[in-house]
Amino acid sequence: MGYSMCWLEYEKLSKKEVERYSEWFESLAMLGDVPKEVVEELKKFARESLGVQLRTFTRFLKKKRYILVGLLNSLPFDLDASEQKPEGFVLKTLKVGNSSVIVLTGKTRASLVYGTYELIKRVRLGEDLESLDVLENPKVRFRMLNHWDNLDGSVERGYAGNSIFFKENEVIVNERTKDYARLLASIGINGVVLNNVNVKKKELHLLEPAYLEKLKKLADVFRRYGIRVFLSVNFASPMHLGGLETADPLDKRVFEWWKKKVEEIYDYIPDFGGFLVKADSEFNPGPHMFGRTHAEGANMLARALAPFEGYVIWRAFVYNCMQDWRDYKTDRAKAAYENFKPLDGQFDENVIVQIKYGPMDFQVREPVSPLFGALERTNQMLELQITQEYTGQQIHLCYLGTLWKEILDFDTFAKGRGSFVKRIVDGTIFGMENGGIAGVSNVGDSENWTGHDLAQANLYTFGRLAWNPDEEIEKVVKEWIVLTFGKKEKVLENVSYMLLKSHRAYEKYTTPFGLGWMVNPGHHYGPNPEGYEYSRWGTYHRANWEAIGVDRTSRGTGFTLQYRSPWREIFDDVNTCPEDLILFFHRLPYTFKLKSGKTLIQAMYDLHFEGVEEVEDFLRKWEELEGLIDQRVHERVRERLRMQLEHAKEWRDVINTYFFRRTGIPDEKGRRIYP
Ligand code: GCU
Repeated sequence: MGYSMCWLEYEKLSKKEVERYSEWFESLAMLGDVPKEVVEELKKFARESLGVQLRTFTRFLKKKRYILVGLLNSLPFDLDASEQKPEGFVLKTLKVGNSSVIVLTGKTRASLVYGTYELIKRVRLGEDLESLDVLENPKVRFRMLNHWDNLDGSVERGYAGNSIFFKENEVIVNERTKDYARLLASIGINGVVLNNVNVKKKELHLLEPAYLEKLKKLADVFRRYGIRVFLSVNFASPMHLGGLETADPLDKRVFEWWKKKVEEIYDYIPDFGGFLVKADSEFNPGPHMFGRTHAEGANMLARALAPFEGYVIWRAFVYNCMQDWRDYKTDRAKAAYENFKPLDGQFDENVIVQIKYGPMDFQVREPVSPLFGALERTNQMLELQITQEYTGQQIHLCYLGTLWKEILDFDTFAKGRGSFVKRIVDGTIFGMENGGIAGVSNVGDSENWTGHDLAQANLYTFGRLAWNPDEEIEKVVKEWIVLTFGKKEKVLENVSYMLLKSHRAYEKYTTPFGLGWMVNPGHHYGPNPEGYEYSRWGTYHRANWEAIGVDRTSRGTGFTLQYRSPWREIFDDVNTCPEDLILFFHRLPYTFKLKSGKTLIQAMYDLHFEGVEEVEDFLRKWEELEGLIDQRVHERVRERLRMQLEHAKEWRDVINTYFFRRTGIPDEKGRRIYP
């Protein structure tokens, strides 16, 4: 096959487990229209993990135990399904005559697919099937992956090989496409954007028949697993492809062009999801070029898509990327709010504004964007970055679930206490139901899909949290480990320790206190304290000999004022501002005293030494697992951990040296810092 199936490798279960579960998986009763994907998956699992041949029937059986699958309206008995949403499923163990029957049902084909993966997962986790009583609905409407894949096969910010969708300007549809759809369906993803948000010359043509023909084939595969495909589009497409001299959203000819284009797309892909648009951002065209607003731009596209239940996902990543570093007034952090808050209420129902988690750009630590909770009448999609652009590029182990959980649990106070980000994107707080969570994919054509084997945990966790943002992170980690590596206690213990501590460790040896950006320009790997200091990107820390950080308080750029109370006061006051963000919000002298009593500079040194020690610890913990994990995987991860350790030391020494040279303040503990 040439690639692993990550958490869907159906390894043979122990003898005891086989005895416990086999009987269920010998017979499958199917009522009405049951997707062949469901049957295939159950058969595959039964064969590979339990060593039994699953036989299928289209009637009730007299067997002692069996599984019954059917859409809700094909079942002859009444299951109370009033709570069930279209994608939700029921798994229930019922007594039917003398039989014990696991009933899997739902309202749509997708729901049956989701329920199938849940049932298999429960068996693999060793859970009880005798008294199942599960009704599960996804909490979030749109659970999306954004691929930044280009037609030539490259992946922007991709660290796992080439694209699985495109190669040398061709669309790839093969067995792996289906296996990808299986992986995504098993974690509840229901939408995939196939191409990069930066739509360049070649990718413009994805909207033309020659490509639509091929994209249709991809969509046909994904549809069977409940996944809709979306495309990133260039706002100026009518000019490039349609020969118009304008892309002004209020120009009738422009709308007509899009309308026809959309009709054409739906001829090929009847359940096409819609467009993702990066407009007026980092040199991509948008409505501002024609003196129009983002709402006017987005709504024009939305109206072309509405008759087909298509959506426009419009990114809020809009800022001045041509700033002068000498300009102290402009604060990039304020840009998304300034651009979008005034448009609240102006977007059509099928427009969703996609907001990066932080006000800057996927740094290892940023405050949650104040735009969440500021928009009350706009559908919102949270954008996370699964691919590790600024978090170690899949060379470093950096498990992101812990960070994402903090973001989802952030209380915006938009409607008083409890207005968490997760409750905004799931529609609870403002009743805007077309919300969602999008993740920039970390997948490529490498053997293990994600470059670093342990980065599979990020993809897995993303899906699980998008389905249910209330899920406990320790539980998700444990699940992933068992599904990927089996049930060995030591593996579970060490790998969960490593994953759960890894983001904080990365933060410690790179840029703690919300500093961010001290990376090499362009590729964004490795330390460079002034890499972004004199550039045009609005990314400055302004360190001099006595102080560091940007004053974003009400006395400075005023960024804190974009938050609701009590956050604006909390962030505004250096005494209450969370310390892990203190240099994001405040400009402070190096001798500033932290709550621990340490000076900022001493804490900076300490964290960098600690961070490296933690990576040493991860490596030790991983070494202990030799022989307990597939040898190739073990070696691959060990290789990366060794590189991580070297690179972490580089980070430590460059950053510590930078601060020492700026301040002349030595490390109290006398450790080695280069003078
Ligand atoms: C980051 C990233 C770019 C990407 C951009 C975006 O700046 O470095 O590669 O295009 O985000 O999200 O649009």
